[in-house]
Amino acid sequence: MNSLFARTTGVTGYKSPKWRYLPQSAVVSGFIMAFVALEKLHLLHDGYRQAVRLAGQNLLLLHENGKSLLIRNACPHAGAALTQASCKGNRLRCPMHGIEFDLDTGRAAGTACAQSLQFFPLIYEGNTLGVEVSE
Ligand code: FES
Repeated sequence: MNSLFARTTGVTGYKSPKWRYLPQSAVVSGFIMAFVALEKLHLLHDGYRQAVRLAGQNLLLLHENGKSLLIRNACPHAGAALTQASCKGNRLRCPMHGIEFDLDTGRAAGTACAQSLQFFPLIYEGNTLGVEVSE
């Protein structure tokens, strides 16, 4: 099984000298669950961007207006990476064609794009922000 972001509780990550973080796996309801740490909380700030590749998917961890979000790193309009997207207020502006997306709803402003940003749940664990992945 390789679905992303199934939720559970009580699973922690641990440091490794080889990797910054490795997931610590646990069996929960018949599935192997793993917490994957993405960033320390004190390193997050407005304007923060980090491209992440997880389970074969390109994602973007971003922090704006005091809030962290994890989205698919592909603009719903034509697939441009959003790593260099700018943000004004609560709108993320794609660098390719300039369509703006609401960071609360994911919807595009206006009618130029009918698709929305895709969000993934983040999990706070101690002083770390991450995701849970089922293996
Ligand atoms: S690819 Fe993002 S606005 Fe067109």
